[in-house]
Amino acid sequence: MAIIELQQVKKVYDIGPEHLEIISGVDAQWSDGSIIIITGESGSGKSTLLNMIGALDSVTEGTIHVAGHPLHSMSEDELTDFRSATVGFIFQFHYLMKDFTARENVMVPAFMRGMNKKDALDKAAELLTAVGMENRLDHFPSQLSGGERQRVAVARSLINDPPVVLADEPTGNLDERNSRKVEEILFQLVRSVGKTLVLVTHDNHLKEYGDQSFILEDGRLCEG
Ligand SMILES: Nc1ncnc2c1ncn2[C@@H]1O[C@H](COP(=O)(O)OP(=O)(O)OP(=O)(O)O)[C@@H](O)[C@H]1O
Ligand SMILES: [Mg+2]
Repeated sequence: MAIIELQQVKKVYDIGPEHLEIISGVDAQWSDGSIIIITGESGSGKSTLLNMIGALDSVTEGTIHVAGHPLHSMSEDELTDFRSATVGFIFQFHYLMKDFTARENVMVPAFMRGMNKKDALDKAAELLTAVGMENRLDHFPSQLSGGERQRVAVARSLINDPPVVLADEPTGNLDERNSRKVEEILFQLVRSVGKTLVLVTHDNHLKEYGDQSFILEDGRLCEG
């Protein structure tokens, strides 16, 4: 069964006289537990496509279903709930809160969904251990390296146990060595907990980690 299904998805920006068709009718069916890698040049629409799958942006035309949720016909409240329960996000920039420790940063999304503080802190510690950060639980973001901050972001993306993780250039700000380490941790963890991962990147070598890989070009998604 497909956990992510796109049908004739289009995204158009009309700016003044300009009609910019960024995504021109994308169809996709990705199965539960799979790792999907999407590459494409800068400006090809990778973030736009990922943001539509995560309900951070709306489609101009077409339909998207994620874990059975029809994004195109949901209310704002339903979409807010979807963003916190059904998908986990990892971005190029970590967006950690600077006055919160690593552990607190990871627990916040669970706490906000009503988990009691102790359980949320325990679960955060468990996930930080899974990303090799067990000795950094009480560090603030400013006391962590770039790669460590992204590992915290990986742990945070999984705190609400979403079936789908969406990653937009998660290692785009890291050097080669740290990129490889964060990528290995991310792929291994996602596999071990059976999540579906959609990762967009400039980096062609990441295709080898995917069950399927695609190139976004001229608004279309081609296998390869
Ligand atoms: N809000 C917007 N209004 C108008 N045009 C937009 C808007 N957001 C994005 N675009 C345009 O859509 C195109 C795709 O942008 P997008 O950010 O999805 O590309 P990308 O593939 O993620 O690029 P990168 O690899 O540099 O992150 C770009 O040409 C951009 O200028
Ligand atoms: Mg982008």
